Amino acid sequence: MKNPYKPLLAEIAKITVENEAKDLKTFDLVLRNGSERDGFSYSCGQFAEVSVPGIGECPFGIASSPMDEGVLQFTVKRYPDGLVTNALHNLGVGGIVGVRGPLGNSYPMERLEGANVLVVSGGFAFTTLRSTVRYMLHEKNRGRFGKIAVIYGAREPGELLYKSELEEWKAREDVETHITIDRDALGWKGLVGFVPNVVAEVAPKSENTIAIVCGPPIMLHFTFPRLLELGFPPDRIITSLENKMKCGVGLCGRCNVGPKYVCRDGPVFTYEEIKALPQEF
Ligand SMILES: Cc1cc2nc3c(=O)[nH]c(=O)nc-3n(C[C@H](O)[C@H](O)[C@H](O)COP(=O)(O)OP(=O)(O)OC[C@H]3O[C@@H](n4cnc5c(N)ncnc54)[C@H](O)[C@@H]3O)c2cc1C
Ligand code: FES
Repeated sequence: MKNPYKPLLAEIAKITVENEAKDLKTFDLVLRNGSERDGFSYSCGQFAEVSVPGIGECPFGIASSPMDEGVLQFTVKRYPDGLVTNALHNLGVGGIVGVRGPLGNSYPMERLEGANVLVVSGGFAFTTLRSTVRYMLHEKNRGRFGKIAVIYGAREPGELLYKSELEEWKAREDVETHITIDRDALGWKGLVGFVPNVVAEVAPKSENTIAIVCGPPIMLHFTFPRLLELGFPPDRIITSLENKMKCGVGLCGRCNVGPKYVCRDGPVFTYEEIKALPQEF
């Protein structure tokens, strides 16, 4: 039986600094063992426990798409006093880390097939949604999904993730992008305003549409009512929860919200499921 606590060794192949504050980096990891690399299959929305030897491990959403062969990407925010995130940010290309995963459930990609998909995100919670959009836009997959719209916001232009990819999406005709920043900034030509307000302004149609929403709690708090007003039923609003975790595999009880273990039953839940949980997250 596979030991769920044993990490696979991975080498950092590339590091991309994502923002002006330089506290968000995307790590491209390549599993060292070829058969482990080939066998590591995951779905959009899943996460992994990434460890720095001798320091510790923590959960990160998988930011690459399942269509990206041989490489796993994680976008990591460094907390000034964060043990693991600091240690990760101090590693360079060639550094060795551990990866346990893929863990948790995923976005319901089969349910999204044939539907229009609205992606709403704020801040660095965009990681697994980037994975999802990247997956849906892949030439082998695009025909399986209806219209795709992305509403994504950051505090300021320098804080937007995956900037060159956002430009590529803007240039495509088969995806609608609405990129916003909280307050106007010199040279900014996009939208200005908080994500929930932009959702209300853009007013995406809810017919045959599934919304996937990820962001900080305050953004979620104001976005869910906007989507309900637009006619999205609670079971067609999907989100991903973050909670403190330890084992990541449903064994330690560290991550529970009421009866649900976020690591095993989630992190992906519908708004309908979340409404039934104690509001502890
Ligand atoms: C399913 C899941 C997916 C996640 N995906 C990502 C991701 O893609 N990218 C990413 O950067 N992070 C992600 N996180 C959060 C990430 O796991 C934490 O930031 C990380 O565990 C911090 O570890 P640390 O050892 O650096 O900090 P610690 O040493 O544990 O904590 C140091 C300080 O940081 C604060 N802190 C720790 N975690 C958070 C948090 N989540 N929010 C606010 N403050 C915090 C603590 O309160 C403390 O002040 C995810 C979490 C979960 C549960
Ligand atoms: S982290 Fe251990 S049960 Fe979820």
